[in-house]
Order: sequence, then structure tokens, then C-alpha cells
Amino acid sequence: MRFFVTGTAGFIGFHLAQRLLELGHRVVGYDAMTSYYDVRLKEARHAMLARSDQFRAVVAPLEDMQRLTSAVEAAEPDVIVHLAAQAGVRYSIEEPRAYIDSNIVGSFNILDLARAMKPRHLLMASTSSVYGANAHVPFLESERADHPLSLYAATKKATEAMAHSYAHLFSIPITLFRFFTIYGPWGRPDMAPYKFIDAIEKGRPIDVYNHGDMERDFTYVADLIEAILRLVDCVPRIDSADPSVSPAAPWRVVNIGRGEPINLMDFVAAIERALGRKAICNYLDMQPGDMQRTFADSALLERLTGFRPHTSIDEGVAALVAWHRSYYG
Ligand SMILES: NC(=O)c1ccc[n+]([C@@H]2O[C@H](COP(=O)([O-])OP(=O)(O)OC[C@H]3O[C@@H](n4cnc5c(N)ncnc54)[C@H](O)[C@@H]3O)[C@@H](O)[C@H]2O)c1
Repeated sequence: MRFFVTGTAGFIGFHLAQRLLELGHRVVGYDAMTSYYDVRLKEARHAMLARSDQFRAVVAPLEDMQRLTSAVEAAEPDVIVHLAAQAGVRYSIEEPRAYIDSNIVGSFNILDLARAMKPRHLLMASTSSVYGANAHVPFLESERADHPLSLYAATKKATEAMAHSYAHLFSIPITLFRFFTIYGPWGRPDMAPYKFIDAIEKGRPIDVYNHGDMERDFTYVADLIEAILRLVDCVPRIDSADPSVSPAAPWRVVNIGRGEPINLMDFVAAIERALGRKAICNYLDMQPGDMQRTFADSALLERLTGFRPHTSIDEGVAALVAWHRSYYG
């Protein structure tokens, strides 16, 4: 099949493209190589993908409708997976406009192109952050998620809503993924797992927010990719017998999370075991915009795909540490 994947120089897009290429698919990757974090890491990911002659990269922003249109038209995709975004909760306080540009305008451009190109399936990344102030756990897709705590979450919630209107108006089958704290090799340097490993390796203190009283449903990247691949084949169709699909559009939201939240200090302990070194902890208050706990209900994912993320924290952290050591020396 022919895939058009946005965000292929990013953490998740890279892993997805790599897996699709291994499976024999053709992939056009679209990424602006934004400077939110070390661009060399993004270039290294694209260089790995470029080893396959089935991969072609287009480096341009989603906001450039002309470049995006010619890239999608040339790719003639069966499936579009839209992962490119300005990610990160904390940065959305410093640079809110980056989120409007990439996540609102960028996602709208993808939707508008899907309207013209009519892919078999459009899959787009949302986030567990949309559950915001919800107190009831585990987070369930069918529950309301109307109280985002950060602009990042608000732009993802807006993307879900824009996608629903386009799925309804133009009969585009759309799946929205709500990812829960993804970690693993080639991970993002702005995220806690990477920051913790880097600091502990170098003997620097780590910042531990809310004095460690946080829980995250850490999900290993290989599990996430397996879930995405299986969801590609779960094309939503309006069907009154399936309550996970909107009654008004071929549109559904699916959590992708392990469904077993881990206390932050237990995650730090797993890193300490893998590194054979103790962390020096700098305990801080809760950061504005952050959630105290994330916890996926993964029953829908399992019902649709027969799969649920299963990699243990110790296995996942060991793989991340091994990659970090080999990549950074
Ligand atoms: N990693 C996680 O834990 C997590 C959790 C929830 C949701 N998500 C979502 O998953 C998706 C992938 O996240 P990731 O962790 O791989 O992030 P990432 O930052 O590593 O990858 C995103 C990629 O998008 C590109 N990009 C950003 N703005 C762009 C623009 N305007 N035009 C073109 N390219 C642009 C960046 O250069 C980057 O390579 C994002 O939509 C993110 O919001 C990630």
C-alpha cells in the first residue's frame, strides 16, 4: 500500500515509517524538521529511513498548502497517517502560536487534502492530555473530555472536532488516536524518560514535579506501532451496532495506552536499575497545565484489534537505555 505519513522525522512517525517499510509498503514522509528539539536527531531518523528506496522525504511545513498538496498528490496515498504536530504540554505556555499554526492550521490542511484525495483511511494523532481535568479513571473514549488544561490539549481536542465535521460532510473515514506517554529508542529529548536517563548518566539532578506524586500510563513505542498498524485496517463505518463510531460520521477515537499507570518514582527506579546508578532528585511543585495522572481504558483498542500494549516498564526502559548509550556514547 501507499502511505503518506506526516512527522516522519519525529519519534513516532519514524518508528511507524520504519515498520511500514519493513512490511513492504511505500512511504512518503512529510516533516518540517522544526527546531523544537535537536534537529540532528530528526535528520538521523530520516537518514535511517532513506536507506529504503521505498521511502521518500519531503521537508516542508504543514502550513504550506502548496507544498503539502503537491506532496500528497504525488504520493497518491491509500492511507494518510497524520502525526506531525507541535507536541509538549509545557512549551505550549511559552510558544502558544506554534500550536495554533502546526496543530490547528496544519491539521485543517490535512483534512482539506483528504477531502480531495479521498484516502481509504485517515488516521490522526491526538493525546491523553485531552482528558484534562477528568477525575474518573481509567479514561474512556466515550466519556466527555471537555476540560483541557493546556493549549496543547485544546488544539488536539479541536483537531478531533474538525475531523468529525469533515468525516461527516465528506464521508472520509477518520480514526483519532489518543496516545498515552510513549517512550522508547529514538525518543524525544523533551520528555521525562530521556531527560531522566541523560541527567542520571551525567550525575546531574533530575526535576521531579509534584514532588513525585504523579502517575503516567507509560506505553512502549513498539506496542504503539503494532496498535497503529492494526487500526489502519479498522476503518470506521457508520453502524448503529458499533457505539465506538459516531452516529453521524465514519469517525472514532481510540486510546492507545498500556492501561497500567506507573508512579513516577517507580519509573525513576526502573531507570536506576537499568543504568546501575542512583538519581539525585530535585523535587518541585506541579507544573501549570500538567495532569496528575493518566490512565487508559484500553478495552476498545483490544476489541477492535485483538491487541493490547504489554511491554513491561523494565523491558522498555532497558531498550531505551541501550539505545541512549549507543547513540550518545
Ligand atoms: N510521544 C508521546 O508521548 C505523545 C503522546 C501523545 C500524543 N502524541 C502526538 O503524537 C504525534 C507524534 O509525536 P512525537 O512524540 O513523535 O513528536 P515529535 O516532536 O518527535 O514529532 C513531530 C514531528 O512533527 C514535525 N512538525 C512539527 N510541526 C510541524 C509542521 N508545522 N509542519 C511539518 N512538520 C511539523 C516535527 O519536526 C517533528 O519531527 C504528535 O501529534 C503528538 O502530539 C505524542
